[in-house]
Amino acid sequence: MRAKLVVGNWKMYGSLAANLTLLTGIKDAAIAFKCAAAVCVPFPYLAQARSALAGTSVAWGAQNVSEHAQGAFTGEVSAGMLVDFGCRYVLVGHSERRALYGEDDRTVAAKFQQAQLAGLTPILCLGETLAERESGVTADVVTRQLGAVIDASGVAALSRAVLAYEPVWAIGTGKTASPQQAQEVHALIRARVGQSDAAVASELRILYGGSVKPGNARELFAMPDIDGGLIGGASLVAEDFRAICAAA
Ligand code: 13P
Repeated sequence: MRAKLVVGNWKMYGSLAANLTLLTGIKDAAIAFKCAAAVCVPFPYLAQARSALAGTSVAWGAQNVSEHAQGAFTGEVSAGMLVDFGCRYVLVGHSERRALYGEDDRTVAAKFQQAQLAGLTPILCLGETLAERESGVTADVVTRQLGAVIDASGVAALSRAVLAYEPVWAIGTGKTASPQQAQEVHALIRARVGQSDAAVASELRILYGGSVKPGNARELFAMPDIDGGLIGGASLVAEDFRAICAAA
């Protein structure tokens, strides 16, 4: 039985003062609804997330990690450093990283591997652009993105990871995939994993991300292969995050 998981991705938003209120709201919501939850915050706020969330049921993590263990890589942050700050999760392969920072499948697979080597649980993001959806290659794209990680780390590595299907055209656009559209891709991803390892596939959490809001969370989470959400904009508003936890 896969318990639902709600993860907030703050992206590049926040301030020490604003985070304080938000973290309190998130913690209260997770406790009230006994919902497994986490927040992926900007690096400078990891210490703040740790002090606000330690000892609660809410985990925290980062939004990116280096593909190297350590070395002369100015500006990069290693998986070991994230562990130092008590992180459980790290996002890898978010579409904004792929599109804006040139992360290709190979880089994403290396980041996934580094995260696991340090003991983090990577949240691997997969998803197609609007052009790819319209040209009918959604299945090829997500299978290729996932395949790169399976080739590098093996299918069993997915038992220590979370997947997130985030159609690029639904991110920050207010345009959500319909529950049926999302379910179709989630089922396809699970089936692809199942071809290699049925047990891993049946335990694997696959989150949906892309304009999840209090008004659509319940019907998305009701789908058999949707195991929770990766929430952008609505994770910055305590009441919205609360409502999404309630839906989960
Ligand atoms: P929105 O919920 O703002 O569409 O963002 C989704 C996302 O990118 C989460 O990682």
